Amino acid sequence: MRSLRTGLSLTGLVTAAALLLTAPAAHAADTPLRDLASAKGKVIGTAVTGSKLTGTYGDIAGAQFSSLTPGNAMKWGTVEPTQGSFNWTEADQIVAFAKAHNQQVRGHTLVWHNQNPSWLTNGTWTSAQLGTLLQNHITTEVTRYKGDIAAWDVVNEPFNEDGTYRSTLWYNGLGSGYIANALTWAHAADPAAKLYINDYNVEGVNAKSTALYDLVRSLKAAGVPIDGVGLQAHLILGQVPATLQQNIQRFADLGVDVAITELDVRMQLPATDASLAQQKADFKSVTAACAAVTRCVNVTVWGFTDSDSWVPGTFPGYGAATPYDENYAPKPAYYGISEALGGTTTTPPPSTGACSATYSVVNQWNSGFTGQVTIACSGASLSSWKATWTYGAGQQITQAWNAGCTQSGAAVTCTNASYNGTVPDGGSVTFGFNASWSGSNPVPTVTLG
Ligand code: XIL
Repeated sequence: MRSLRTGLSLTGLVTAAALLLTAPAAHAADTPLRDLASAKGKVIGTAVTGSKLTGTYGDIAGAQFSSLTPGNAMKWGTVEPTQGSFNWTEADQIVAFAKAHNQQVRGHTLVWHNQNPSWLTNGTWTSAQLGTLLQNHITTEVTRYKGDIAAWDVVNEPFNEDGTYRSTLWYNGLGSGYIANALTWAHAADPAAKLYINDYNVEGVNAKSTALYDLVRSLKAAGVPIDGVGLQAHLILGQVPATLQQNIQRFADLGVDVAITELDVRMQLPATDASLAQQKADFKSVTAACAAVTRCVNVTVWGFTDSDSWVPGTFPGYGAATPYDENYAPKPAYYGISEALGGTTTTPPPSTGACSATYSVVNQWNSGFTGQVTIACSGASLSSWKATWTYGAGQQITQAWNAGCTQSGAAVTCTNASYNGTVPDGGSVTFGFNASWSGSNPVPTVTLG
């Protein structure tokens, strides 16, 4: 496990920032994922929750990703909970954030069998009424965001595992033609948006992905506006399909774009160093498969932090499925994505390999905070130490104890006091400090040297 939760109960204000983070074995590659992706002509995205786009969550979403997908905000049940009464609040918020951060938005999703409003699912409709409802829904939503959406997941999850059409409100009421109609209506409302069909368990070559392939081929042959295929990629640890790249390539060869739209890799909890290492390999191979195919344009993770993932609530006993842990520390999976996009990961020198530094915010108030760093050794020892980190949001150390700390710009260097340079095998040393902050107080990565 790379992170722990504290059970700290301090008198005074203990904010949600009272975190305990173990410095990753490899420290954060300096280049944000979005810059690495862009150098390869790719877009890197994440699903987001609109209300969370402030503080550290907003900082990471804005800095690391070049595309946002609303996790729920654009689904029919969210935008029209009561017939004729619309709620665009969260969707608007995400679109505005994306504009402010020079990001694309993937619209998700217009036609699905889940998360529809109950007035729709409980209603009794003739086929003609159902078609009109669907056309109006698509026209209203796509028109509202015309010019703001790079790509729409127009139809979501239309197939069963065996490649037959899923029996849904839409298929049962309208027949398979609902797919071509939905694409045509969406195109009429925003001709510039790329229009996708999106599904899960279609990452490798199999019966379901072949049905999708056949559908896309026939839609293209019929002149229906179809621009892309979304491979959701909700994967299980160690189960990236061997035919992923081949499958991406065959769709590309049909003349459509491909996107990995909802990547996560779930594992049984608790996570271990071994499962996190496997997860890194899985994120890396999925990202690399997309990077290898020119028409694979976007890799989007379904939530970038384990604190904002659908997995624990949907797959009991599973979790830790995203590239950042619950405390916003990048996990090995983050470096897997980074490496697949050409980033380099530096590993610490062997002499400190078995000693690690743990940074925590133990108390925080409106302008200041108290932090501490614990240096712990196992299988190694230190006779002197130096801990360094870079503050990402203008934090400034004002006072330190049990160490000598200096700060130059954002760079902090703390060295041992005369009496605590020795960290024995199996032992630890802690020092503390007060610092100022404003805006946000992201946790830095501490390097031991
Ligand atoms: C999930 C959301 O992440 C959850 O918050 C919600 O409760 C259920 O839906 N395939 C999709 C996504 O296309 O829309 C789903 O998102 C995950 C599976």
